[in-house]
Amino acid sequence: MKTFLRSTYSSQSDRAESSKSLMLTQTARDPALRRMRSEAQERALTAAEVHAGLLARPLPCLPSKFFYDHRGSVLFDRITRLPEYYLTRTEEALLPEAARDAVARVGPRHLVELGSGLGTKVRTLLGAMSTAGLLDSCTLFDVSEPALAQSLPRLAAERPGLRTSAIVGDFLTDLGALGPGGSRLIAFLGSTIGNIHPRDVPGFFRSAASVLAEGDGLLVGLDLVKDRARLEAAYNDAQGVTAEFNRNILRVMNARLGADFDPEAFEHVAFYDAEAAWIEMRLRAARACRVRVPGAEAELVLPGGGEIRTEISCKYTRPAVEALLAATGLRLEEWYTDADALFALALMRRTAERSAG
Ligand SMILES: C[S@@+](CC[C@H](N)C(=O)[O-])C[C@H]1O[C@@H](n2cnc3c(N)ncnc32)[C@H](O)[C@@H]1O
Repeated sequence: MKTFLRSTYSSQSDRAESSKSLMLTQTARDPALRRMRSEAQERALTAAEVHAGLLARPLPCLPSKFFYDHRGSVLFDRITRLPEYYLTRTEEALLPEAARDAVARVGPRHLVELGSGLGTKVRTLLGAMSTAGLLDSCTLFDVSEPALAQSLPRLAAERPGLRTSAIVGDFLTDLGALGPGGSRLIAFLGSTIGNIHPRDVPGFFRSAASVLAEGDGLLVGLDLVKDRARLEAAYNDAQGVTAEFNRNILRVMNARLGADFDPEAFEHVAFYDAEAAWIEMRLRAARACRVRVPGAEAELVLPGGGEIRTEISCKYTRPAVEALLAATGLRLEEWYTDADALFALALMRRTAERSAG
C-alpha cells in the first residue's frame, strides 16, 4: 500500500513534556467541568496524533479516542444495546455485586470514572457507596466534552448532596489532574482498557497507581478471550451500527482537521487476531483515493482495498492481567466474572510499594 505524508511534527517526548506543564482550563459553561487543554492546544495535539498515526506502518491508523464526538458517543450507546454486543449487559449484570464488594473492601468516599461516556454505570457504584454511608465526591473523566456536558448536570441533579466534577482529558496522559488519592475508587469500565495497546497498559497502571493512596482501588471491566464467532459477531452487528460508529472517525477528521474523507467510500472491517488476542477494526477504501488532511498537514494515498486501523479491543485472561500488573504499584485482589466467563470486573488495590519506572 502506498501512503504519502508531508511534513513532520515534534517527537512524542517533546509533546509529553509540554502536556505536563499544561494547566486545567475551566469552561465558561459549567465551572465543575474542566478541560486539560484550551481549544488551540487540543487542536495542535489532535493534529500531531493524527499525523503520527497516518504515518504508522505497516498500516496507517487513527487513535480510537477520535470516534467520540457527540454522534460517536450516541452511536456507542446504541452499540451497547445491540443483541450481539454481550459486553455491556454482562458487565451490568456483574456490577451491583462487584460494586458492593469493592466498596466494602476499599471503603471509598471519592469515586472517579475514567471513560465515563454518557455516565450510566456510575449510578450503580454511587448507589453502593451511598448504601455504605460513604459517598462524598464523584469525578467523571472523558475525552468527550459533549458526553461530559450531558452527563455531569444530570448526575448533579440526581444527587444534590454529592460534590460532582468532570475533567475533559486523556486517561493515557492526564491522570495527574486528579491529584493525590486517599479513600478513592477509580472505575474503568466497558472494556475501554481493551483499546489501549498491551505495551502501554503497564504505563497506564503506573499512572493510575500514582493517583491512588495505599489501599485505594481500581475497578476495571475486561472482555475475556473466547470463541472467534462470538467475538466477531459483537463487532459486526446485523444493523450496521458498529460500521457507522467506525466510519464516524472519518467524519470527526473532516470536522476537526478539515479532511476530505468520503466516509461512505470506506467499508467496515472487524476481525479477531487470536495471536494478539484482540479484535481489530479497520476501514477499507472501496476504491483508490487521495485524502487531504490539512489540519494535520498530511495527505493519505490509498489504493482500492487499502486499509486504516481504527481500533484494537484486547481480550484478556486473568494470568495476562496479572502479568501486566507486575511492578506497577497495583495488585489484583478480586476477579468477578459470569458463569460463561464472557467478561470480568477486576478489583485492583494500590500496594505500599512504589511502582517501578
Ligand atoms: C468504550 S466507551 C465506554 C463508555 C462507558 N464507560 C461504558 O462502559 O459504556 C469508551 C469511553 O472512553 C472515552 N475515551 C476513549 N479514549 C479515551 C482517552 N484516551 N481518554 C479519555 N477518555 C477516552 C470515550 O469518549 C468513551 O466515552
